[in-house]
Amino acid sequence: MKERNITVGLDIGTTKVCTIVGIENPGSEFEIVGIGTNPSQGLKKGSVVNIDKTVSSISASLEEAKLMSGVKISSATIGIAGSHIYSFNSSGVVAVKGSEITEEDVNRVMEAAKAVIIPSDREVLHVLPQEFRVDNTSGIKNPVGMCGVRLEAHVHIVTGSISLIQNLIKCAELAGVKVNNVILQPIASSGSVLSLEEKELGVVLVDVGGGTTDIAIWKDGSLIHSQIIPVGGNHFTNDLAVALKIPYMEAERVKIYHGSVLAETLDQSANITVQGLHGTRPRDVQLSQVAAVLGARADELFGLIKNIIDERGLENDITGGCILTGGGALIKGIAELGEYILERPVKIGYPSPFGGMTNIMQNPKYSTVLGLLLEAQKENTIHGKYKDSETHHADLVVRLSESLKSVFKEIF
Ligand SMILES: Nc1ncnc2c1ncn2[C@@H]1O[C@H](COP(=O)(O)OP(=O)(O)OP(=O)(O)O)[C@@H](O)[C@H]1O
Ligand SMILES: [Mg+2]
Repeated sequence: MKERNITVGLDIGTTKVCTIVGIENPGSEFEIVGIGTNPSQGLKKGSVVNIDKTVSSISASLEEAKLMSGVKISSATIGIAGSHIYSFNSSGVVAVKGSEITEEDVNRVMEAAKAVIIPSDREVLHVLPQEFRVDNTSGIKNPVGMCGVRLEAHVHIVTGSISLIQNLIKCAELAGVKVNNVILQPIASSGSVLSLEEKELGVVLVDVGGGTTDIAIWKDGSLIHSQIIPVGGNHFTNDLAVALKIPYMEAERVKIYHGSVLAETLDQSANITVQGLHGTRPRDVQLSQVAAVLGARADELFGLIKNIIDERGLENDITGGCILTGGGALIKGIAELGEYILERPVKIGYPSPFGGMTNIMQNPKYSTVLGLLLEAQKENTIHGKYKDSETHHADLVVRLSESLKSVFKEIF
């Protein structure tokens, strides 16, 4: 197996680190050949707070994936989230040089759209084109070859804290993998969960992880808003531990096996037995009490999502409704409650199956890592060949410094 045919997605989450190895052999389908999942330690709300613990969680996950796939993992595409992420829309205009729009005109207008002032402690992670306008015609996805005199680009820009991005890259590299690309987690999850039709129609992708809930809003095939909410599944567990006065691990078990967010639908006499704190005697609690605690947190989360939609005036853009993914989307009743609060259709989004080991991966908690793998594969396909990790790393450094240069050129 040649190393250059290997693609790796590495999701460094708050609760788990997951590595997936994909392989593309000439003439056959892209296939998953290795998976490594290990509990994550060292991250809080999506950001690294302990380097050593994060490195050993990544190393364990890589080791498992290496053992399963039988290949050497030297580079990977990683995901990023955390409340340091800040995204916004921007636009730029240029005069078309010749009679027809060329690649060069598109590059110039993209440069103009991303030439915005951002604080010196942040860097640009993504500049994603939404639409181009040629003279008075809008909604153009690829203007190359069109006639016109004025070219306008509308883009979505994602930025993050330089130090927090570097911390994550450093952890991956200390664990022995070079980082080819850093992708915003909800963009990755969207890639594995959403269909092209859903992105066209307009949907909110909500990835409820352990430490954060990541939002990506799509319309007309483009990302129009992205945001990280610092509330995730672990907050549900914590609320339960505090309200029922039980250990965190017991609260996690109760949430997963007996939890629901719809207290009204439960039989008021149904009880479960829970372990008390510090070895105190087990006691009975009502299931409706468990659901009331979890339901209150879910109410808050959907309230925050509704505010994001309303504040940006996107109510009429989200025709396709809301798609919940991430491990936190598995809690019972969450789609029904979401539908009630958001007043639009809500469903659970599972990653689309593709070559190899797909049944194990058919779980919303793997949406991000599968999306990272797909992004990595897409990048390799666009570049026309699989490059070695050395070249990829150099590319990342060049790309990051290029995007920084262009962003700051307006300031200096
Ligand atoms: N069956 C289930 N029912 C309810 N909650 C679940 C279930 N399975 C997992 N979870 C919850 O999902 C959360 C973890 O989700 P996920 O694996 O997507 O997070 P992560 O990627 O590690 O974290 P993040 O994306 O925030 O960094 C945990 O809070 C966990 O309790
Ligand atoms: Mg996640």
